[in-house]
Amino acid sequence: MGGSGISARIVHGLLLDKLGVPLFVCNDYDIPAAVSSETLFVAVSYSGNTEETLSAYAQARKRGCCIIAITSGGELGRSAAKAGYSVVPVPAGMPPRAALGHLFSTLLVSLERSGVCKGHQRGLEEAVRLMRARRRPWLVRARTIAKHIDGRLPIVYSTSRMLDAVADRWRCQFNENAGVLCHTNSFPEHNHNEIVGMGHPENPGRDVVVVALLDRETRPRTRYRLESVLDITEQAYHLAMRLESEGRSRLARVFSLIMLGDLVSVELARLLGKDAMEIDRIDELKRRMAQKRG
Ligand code: F6R
Repeated sequence: MGGSGISARIVHGLLLDKLGVPLFVCNDYDIPAAVSSETLFVAVSYSGNTEETLSAYAQARKRGCCIIAITSGGELGRSAAKAGYSVVPVPAGMPPRAALGHLFSTLLVSLERSGVCKGHQRGLEEAVRLMRARRRPWLVRARTIAKHIDGRLPIVYSTSRMLDAVADRWRCQFNENAGVLCHTNSFPEHNHNEIVGMGHPENPGRDVVVVALLDRETRPRTRYRLESVLDITEQAYHLAMRLESEGRSRLARVFSLIMLGDLVSVELARLLGKDAMEIDRIDELKRRMAQKRG
């Protein structure tokens, strides 16, 4: 769920067209019916105390799955260690969404070691190098983007299945760091429904900032779709930005856009005077859920 679950969705986007086996990301209490003793089940919860993840984990145990737990501790860490499953620890003491680098790389490497995929070491190294090298220019860019979004509704469009999770990450970081709503959709699906709804109701129609995430693997026809949509719906938004991924490997390209989005969310928080660490409503909801039995 949340800051932990996004690591799995990013992995899913990267591997979707490469894997010979089905890969499900489960963001709920229940696991799919097809999960069996032939399944590798990876429970990812930074705190180790997220009830949906614990419920899915308990179901996976009952079905006799091969289990790996990725966590900084909590109930999941204790239970998985006691049961003799592999527990891969990540460093404690961060907001889960800030631990993405740890959660994502641990998950990917765990899948590699389990023989599910291979050959991502170079991509990981390139991603880290690129993020270090481009930090300053991306921060400057993020400030400009945040200024455009300030006071408006950001709508983030992904243009390939690899970028879907990146758009989700932008939305979640806008929500949690900056405390603002954000809408996401993906192309080309958008073209078969949302194109008609764009700009209605009129307010916030004109207060929308469209952020289109693009990658060298975005199909030329999808790019043409995007430009055509932006032309047809010109009255429905204030500004449209096209952001291209950077880097060579898929992994580096994905993280170039993730880091830019993270920086934009923090810059937006600064402009709005919101403490980017504060997520009081999530904490309050978790307290209420813990008190309510059943
Ligand atoms: C992100 C955040 C939430 C949690 C989510 C699940 O910083 O606080 O999105 O990630 O509530 O909790 P964990 O990650 O501990 O399983």
